Amino acid sequence: MTVPPETRRLLPLADGHLGRSAMTCTYRCGNACAHPAPNTSDNSYFGDLVDAHLSRRGLLRLGAAGAIVAGFTAAGGLPAAATPSRPAGAAAPPGRGPRPGGGALTFSPIPPNTLDAVIVPNGYDHAVVIRWGEPVVAGAPAFDVHRQSPAAQARQFGYNNDFLGVVPIGSDGRRALLFANHEYTNEELMFPGWTGHETATAAQRRIAMLAHGLSVLELERVGRTGEWRPVPVDRARRYNRRITVETAFRLTGPAAGSPLLRTKADPTGTVAYGTLNNCSGGVTPWGTMLSGEENFNQYFVGGDGVAEADKPALRRYGIETGARYPSGSRRWDSVDPRFDLTANPNEANRFGWIVEVDPYDRKSTPRKHTALGRFKHEGANIRLTADDRAVAYMGDDERFDYLYKFVSDKRMRHGSSAAARAHNLTLLDSGTLYVARFGFTSAAEIDGSGKLPSDGAFDGSGEWIPLVRGDKSLVPGMSVDEVLVHTRLAADKVGATKMDRPEDVQPHPITGRVYAALTNNTDRGKAGKEGATEVAPRNGNRHGHILELTETRDDAAAETFRWDLPLVCGDPNDASTYFAGYDKAKVSPISCPDNVAFDPAGNLWIATDGNALGSNDGLFAMPLEGAERGHVKQFLTVPRGAETCGPFLTPDGRSVFVAVQHPGEVDGASVEKPASTWPDGEYARPSVVVTWRVAPGETRIGA
Ligand code: FEO
Ligand code: CA
Ligand code: CA
Repeated sequence: MTVPPETRRLLPLADGHLGRSAMTCTYRCGNACAHPAPNTSDNSYFGDLVDAHLSRRGLLRLGAAGAIVAGFTAAGGLPAAATPSRPAGAAAPPGRGPRPGGGALTFSPIPPNTLDAVIVPNGYDHAVVIRWGEPVVAGAPAFDVHRQSPAAQARQFGYNNDFLGVVPIGSDGRRALLFANHEYTNEELMFPGWTGHETATAAQRRIAMLAHGLSVLELERVGRTGEWRPVPVDRARRYNRRITVETAFRLTGPAAGSPLLRTKADPTGTVAYGTLNNCSGGVTPWGTMLSGEENFNQYFVGGDGVAEADKPALRRYGIETGARYPSGSRRWDSVDPRFDLTANPNEANRFGWIVEVDPYDRKSTPRKHTALGRFKHEGANIRLTADDRAVAYMGDDERFDYLYKFVSDKRMRHGSSAAARAHNLTLLDSGTLYVARFGFTSAAEIDGSGKLPSDGAFDGSGEWIPLVRGDKSLVPGMSVDEVLVHTRLAADKVGATKMDRPEDVQPHPITGRVYAALTNNTDRGKAGKEGATEVAPRNGNRHGHILELTETRDDAAAETFRWDLPLVCGDPNDASTYFAGYDKAKVSPISCPDNVAFDPAGNLWIATDGNALGSNDGLFAMPLEGAERGHVKQFLTVPRGAETCGPFLTPDGRSVFVAVQHPGEVDGASVEKPASTWPDGEYARPSVVVTWRVAPGETRIGA
């Protein structure tokens, strides 16, 4: 639906529901917020800096912005190189596209609201593409919430769709592949008569396991519009695929085969089964999908039974070591002993990676890339260097954790030959892994304490600290496999900068600048916790901010960078917010940025998770260049209790895909007493939505 005229005024904010519900906390991240943030290192305490830096940096920005953006005026055209045409690649290689050609965003922003619906601007339409439980693989039964089974779920679309990637099939723009992450499960909202994890049946536990993972499915365009729908599964046998907790993954890179990755079932340490808590991801320039294994810790029990020497590393990743069952545990150990760390202490080391899937090859073995480090990976997005090495930008989504990048040793081969594709699948096997430190112009300024020089001379600079080069560790006292498996511990040692939950980190496809969503961190500045820093400028940060990082000499492989904060989120009337200097009377309120994406004109699109201003979560767009920089406009809201995920804008500018994750995730809700009945009016079902423009004479989204 579009916004009915009577709601096209600012709706009253909801009472009570501020940010995430307790149900969210239990399921999404294993109550991470209820536990102390696991980074207790004292490696980047910069002291309490005041908000005043914002206005100083804002002034700098106002002076600098105009230079880059003079051409940001014409209507957004579809770059030919980005036309869906090549079976091997989704889009023009990031950083190699045409110059920005967009203009001001043309849609009228929708108001904040708490409606139980997807709301898009007038002039746009939307449709559900696929719901939890609908068939993906041939032979899947029709969904019946009262008759769900493990065998059915293994062939159906999983729960809680998060990252979405869309890549073309062929060159006529009529067929595409949709790749989706299924991050986690809300058992209360999945099983009628749910009685709790302690008493769950084995079948319920198996269904929930199989509702995690990934889906690949073939789509076809509806007419000449921006709408897409699934190809019926009996005609979609070539590509459609479910990847679940039972799918074999090959471990690649320097830590593959490490004793830290060996288990009784896999004494080689090279084959891991399944992928879990896949949050965000990215489409590579070589046409594969990357997906981040995020809050994997919550699936493991028996941490109390591991050797004492192994417990600190488990705790650094949020795994409970004081009791057999963490609160809210799904108790999967009862149906698969892999999840009992007492019996299989290394199994948790086989999760927490970036995984890569070739969506064009249904029979390919997906990979877990140890060279990219192990942490609570939100996702990974690639930019190519001038000589075609792959640079992956990555966030570790936890309060006070870090921002990383990886630079491959090998160069991407262009073209779609089998040899090129096979080569490109090895790009992420070897390279240099870095973690970011902000605010120092050089290591020489650090006095060894990891603290800022006494003059507090933040200057918008930063450096990438190498942790591993090839198969060599650069972290004293840690072997290469220890650095890659226990990457958080390695980053603690080298003085990485503590961030406010780094989520999506994505290079701009045209300018190459890197945008990171820092969702929030209400612990910032609490007693015993690091206080505000220039890159995390607010204590008790409820609303988050966006980081803009510019590599030195525009070289993605550079080891230094400069940075700024173009957006500090919240109610525009709150003096601590900043919209790149744009008139705050004209912007949409925005809170808790999570996933980011770009449209073909180069505008930044931001999806939110946990809006703490009382509205439902949503999708926003913000020009990054010219006079419109900072003009945040809200494009879409999702139903009650949902988080906005995925966002993927097709390179032809006609379609915006959004994953509506956990609709109805409100404390006390159930299948029988739903807090949301989206999309079908009975109970909530996570679903993928596509939005397109229907205004006469215009087909493109945004500019
Ligand atoms: Fe799954 Fe970091 O959000
Ligand atoms: Ca997320
Ligand atoms: Ca993204």
